[in-house]
Amino acid sequence: MYAITIPEPGGPEALVWTEVPDPVPGEGEVVVEVVASAINRADLLQRQGFYDPPPGASVYPGMECSGRIAEVGPGVTGWAVGDEVCALLAGGGYAQKVAVPYGQLLPVPKGIELVHAAALPEVTATVWSNVFMVAHLRPGETLLVHGGASGIGTMAIQLAKAVGARVAVTAGSAQKLERCRELGADILINYHEQDFVAELKQATDGAKADVILDNMGAKYLGRNVDALAVNGRLAVIGLQGGTKGELDLGKMLAKRAAVTATSLRGRPLGEKAAIIAAVREHVWPLLENGQVRPVIDRVLPMADAAQGHQVLEEGGHVGKVLLIA
Ligand SMILES: NC(=O)c1ccc[n+]([C@@H]2O[C@H](COP(=O)([O-])OP(=O)(O)OC[C@H]3O[C@@H](n4cnc5c(N)ncnc54)[C@H](OP(=O)(O)O)[C@@H]3O)[C@@H](O)[C@H]2O)c1
Repeated sequence: MYAITIPEPGGPEALVWTEVPDPVPGEGEVVVEVVASAINRADLLQRQGFYDPPPGASVYPGMECSGRIAEVGPGVTGWAVGDEVCALLAGGGYAQKVAVPYGQLLPVPKGIELVHAAALPEVTATVWSNVFMVAHLRPGETLLVHGGASGIGTMAIQLAKAVGARVAVTAGSAQKLERCRELGADILINYHEQDFVAELKQATDGAKADVILDNMGAKYLGRNVDALAVNGRLAVIGLQGGTKGELDLGKMLAKRAAVTATSLRGRPLGEKAAIIAAVREHVWPLLENGQVRPVIDRVLPMADAAQGHQVLEEGGHVGKVLLIA
């Protein structure tokens, strides 16, 4: 098969479409013939040599895919050769085939094209596990999504609206904020021009955010704490603004607030399978009834993955960039 390899870490040109050995399904794994994969922000870090795959994972980039099951390994139940699936991966999605633990497989939701299903596993699993399983966003509460026009953000807006929450977003341009509004966002904040704490305070009559989904880490830590409501929950999922910040525990204590930080990739298989099962139970019906949809910015040939990485680096996209194998 062919896969995108990274012979030397570097810029987008470090991604090379190369012939490599086919994967073999291990115990509890299937091999998926990949139709499409999607680019995640973390793939850029892996390409630069700053985010190695966890032990045992494929060394090729790609944390999600859609395709058809080509082989079923020992100990797999509930899936058969030919099934159309999408999957959460620890790596290896930028390839024509990938081995996947069967607990990380999802059926392609009815009404969604097989190619577009590649946009779903990372964003649904990340948003559901953080906003709902950890931060317990409830109907009527306010969610602040930083980077509302990102792959993650476009799914977070839709899922929060689907459960009856109010959604505030930050984005870097009026055009991106308009796309967030079309997806259901109620409060639009341009992070270049506005102070998100002041804007949120004004828009919520002082109540502020019950839950914040944060991609910035250290850079926003202090202001995120200021933007939390009483009993607020800050869920950090990205560190685009650095890893080390100062946390004012006095403010946290006065608000009875909580801060969590999670990542999906390195988790034990059982935890990933539990998240995928919850996504199938809670998110798949919303995709199948059309309340929620994947937001696709563009679709590129997988051999041109470098071009896709360039798009994410320049930040001109809204939603997901897909790669066709
Ligand atoms: N922990 C996990 O399990 C997990 C899983 C998946 C993703 N993530 C994280 O989630 C984030 C989004 O991932 P993605 O793949 O969807 O990436 P993406 O589409 O490339 O999105 C990156 C976003 O960052 C936003 N941004 C840049 N500077 C900002 C600022 N100062 N304030 C607010 N937003 C800012 C950009 O907004 P504009 O384009 O509007 O400028 C853009 O929407 C990343 O940090 C990623 O690492 C975490």
